[in-house]
Amino acid sequence: MNPSLLTREALGRFANESRAAFEAELKTLVEIPSISADPAHQGDVRRVAEAARALFERHGGKAEILETSGNPLIHGWFGEDPSCSTITVYNHMDVQPANEPEWTAEPFTFVVAGDTYRGRGSTDDKGPAVTAFFGALAARKAGVPLNIHFLWETEEEIGSPSFEGGLNRHKDRLKTDAIVVSDTVWITRGKPSTPAGLRGLKGFRLTLETADHDLHSGVVGGAARNPLAELIKVVAEMMDGETGKVKIPGFYDEVVKPSKQELEEWENAGFSVDTFKKDHMITGMRTEDPIKVMKRVWGRPTMEVHGVVGGYTGPGIKSAVPPRAEVKLSCRLVPDMDEAKTIGRIRAFVNERFPDVQFHEEHGLAPFKGHVTGPYAEAIKDAYHFAFNAPCSFTREGGSIGAVKTMEDILGCDVFFLGLSLPSHGYHAPNENYDWEQAGGGIAAFAHYFQTVSGIKN
Ligand code: BES
Ligand code: MN
Ligand code: MN
Repeated sequence: MNPSLLTREALGRFANESRAAFEAELKTLVEIPSISADPAHQGDVRRVAEAARALFERHGGKAEILETSGNPLIHGWFGEDPSCSTITVYNHMDVQPANEPEWTAEPFTFVVAGDTYRGRGSTDDKGPAVTAFFGALAARKAGVPLNIHFLWETEEEIGSPSFEGGLNRHKDRLKTDAIVVSDTVWITRGKPSTPAGLRGLKGFRLTLETADHDLHSGVVGGAARNPLAELIKVVAEMMDGETGKVKIPGFYDEVVKPSKQELEEWENAGFSVDTFKKDHMITGMRTEDPIKVMKRVWGRPTMEVHGVVGGYTGPGIKSAVPPRAEVKLSCRLVPDMDEAKTIGRIRAFVNERFPDVQFHEEHGLAPFKGHVTGPYAEAIKDAYHFAFNAPCSFTREGGSIGAVKTMEDILGCDVFFLGLSLPSHGYHAPNENYDWEQAGGGIAAFAHYFQTVSGIKN
């Protein structure tokens, strides 16, 4: 190993010298519209897997596309020395749809504006993936004795439905000592954080049909049932729309409160409600008390209404009684809530009170509780401090990554997080972006991380 290539200065130089290559590689990936939710983009999902494999091969690594019953996985690697430890970096190559009208340029055209990179997938999660990749190149160049592997998924944004089956099928070749995920956000710029937990997610839909076509509300209204009004009532009985409080009996029973130590860490993490609002461009908040905001996003479950389908939505008003309606909802789950138990309670509640409302479940994701101690966790803190010269806090994430719990269970090793995205990068939002400050620092952070963990005895 050549430690002189691993100083902060040397890694800064490596990053700067690699910048053009970094941008070219990220451009190639961002310009493939690998939208996993849209069947019309299946071909692009396959193309992104092939582009990823080519990326590894171009830079002296090896890679294979691993088939699952759904979208493929990409396994890329540098090094297969049995006398060295193996670390696996997880990212995802699929992206959210990008049809928001607010995009100022074509979402799948990679735009470089100074230090900012714009395009769907630039921060979630192609930018961090390519950053970790260049971090690995730096570590390899310095001779860090570590097998650095990558596992890139292509259906994270649809809840990883085939990931478990895929891991089981390929687990022998995916043996690793630890996993590091780069798919999370900091508190704000300059304030790195790494999650000690992620929320789970369970989506569901309610539908009700009480006629087979629009009815005249003057002719039959008052006597005929109104499915849209009834579903609104169901929602109002399930939750308080103003406070967010869920009224399903037992909903909060298994929720583990954040420990005193955790709350202390959150208090000192540098979280500011003003910055949170600015970064996410939020105008309406249910509370402005910082600790309450953190508890609500990181430590409490939710029920959200995402969409209501039904009735007349054109200009003005059409005074019909709609024949059918649908409401789309989901719950974010926290440790130790159980997905099946939670949806069972909601279903029972709806069935009992509104027996002819149809209940449809979506694929769910378990909540995740991580590790905040031990050498791999210390190495994360160390990497952020080394690269960004800022302390990192263990907080939690309100978002969900289905693969995390599955990797822990099937590969039998711990999962850590070295995220690089910022709230202002706009996950899933129009004009999603990433930037060179996060990428250049991230390359140094990953290289340092690889160096540190190469010395851990398993
Ligand atoms: N990278 C996010 C997860 C995330 C979100 C981490 C916010 C930290 C903060 C991931 O790509 C994502 O968007 N997950 C989805 C999963 C869903 C679409 C099944 C989520 O959380 O909604
Ligand atoms: Mn992501
Ligand atoms: Mn996402």
